[in-house]
Amino acid sequence: MTETLAPDDAGIARAARLLAEGELVAFPTETVYGLGGDARSDRAVAGIYAAKGRPSFNPLIVHLPDLSAVEALATVGPNARALARAFWPGPLTLVLPLRDGAGLSPLVTAGLATVAVRIPAHPLARRLLQAFGGPVAAPSANPSGRVSPTRAGHVLEGLSGRIAAVLDGGPCAVGLESTIVAADPAPTLLRPGGVPVEAMEALLGQPFATGGDAHRPSAPGQLASHYAPEAGVRLNATAAEPGEVLVGFGPVKGALTLSDTGDLVEAAARLFDLLRQADRLAGPHGRIAFAPVPEAGLGLAINDRLRRAAAPRP
Ligand code: TXA
Ligand code: MG
Repeated sequence: MTETLAPDDAGIARAARLLAEGELVAFPTETVYGLGGDARSDRAVAGIYAAKGRPSFNPLIVHLPDLSAVEALATVGPNARALARAFWPGPLTLVLPLRDGAGLSPLVTAGLATVAVRIPAHPLARRLLQAFGGPVAAPSANPSGRVSPTRAGHVLEGLSGRIAAVLDGGPCAVGLESTIVAADPAPTLLRPGGVPVEAMEALLGQPFATGGDAHRPSAPGQLASHYAPEAGVRLNATAAEPGEVLVGFGPVKGALTLSDTGDLVEAAARLFDLLRQADRLAGPHGRIAFAPVPEAGLGLAINDRLRRAAAPRP
């Protein structure tokens, strides 16, 4: 049985105790719900891969409470430091050189010499990290390849019975996963996400290269088919074809809508929940059509997730 824990002192204490016992606990972050386990424990980390059905070559993000905890595990270069100061705590993940003797389970990094780290902003995530007092490995709390969870109920739909508990913090405010960046020496965008790349380019005063390749994923969201609902997905639709559920945006009105006013922040926050709702409405043989979303700001991350949802399935 998977326990649902309330977002109070008792719930956080229980979640921290379960993590200390090597159990898996899903918890809210401002981006999506994470499937947390002690990043120092081979058993816990192996359990994360098993619960998700995730390929073990796809490494995990380590969640930490503050920059000094990051520096105990990894080397923070000049660009990384500037990004950390501006965007942490928040929806940014930095891929940094791993320090010798960091004490992480080698399963976390899938044998790489780098580690992906994030300081989340969600108050419950922060309280849990403080109460647990160690690094928490956490991918998104969904079965591998499926839509990421932005509510505790989404976590239970995919993982009930496979994890010890979920800490229920209500809906996630950002709704898209973190932006993943390798910052030094040259900044490279590995996955678009909750921090728009334009904001990071403005801060560092230089353009970001883009990395990642579907065959040798440098970041997991880089697998071509990902975020897949049951129904087929069509993009850049301005009207529904027979059998389709249209998800609108701005001037394109659908049965469901990402944002009536064309607000990308609202659209990001609603995206994964709408994918699930549209999937239910479409039924077993139905299709989902999405209105066009501008390719700027959070639109980059929204379109990235939509393209992967629409990609041919393996
Ligand atoms: O917002 C988020 O990032 C959420 C919340 C829970 O923090 N987590 C998340 O984790 O999206 P996940 O496992 O679904 O995505 C982590 C990504 C993967 O695509 C993985 O390939 C990449 O991070 N990654 C992890 N370690 C890496 C490394 N050393 N180098 C490059 N990419 C790495
Ligand atoms: Mg994921």
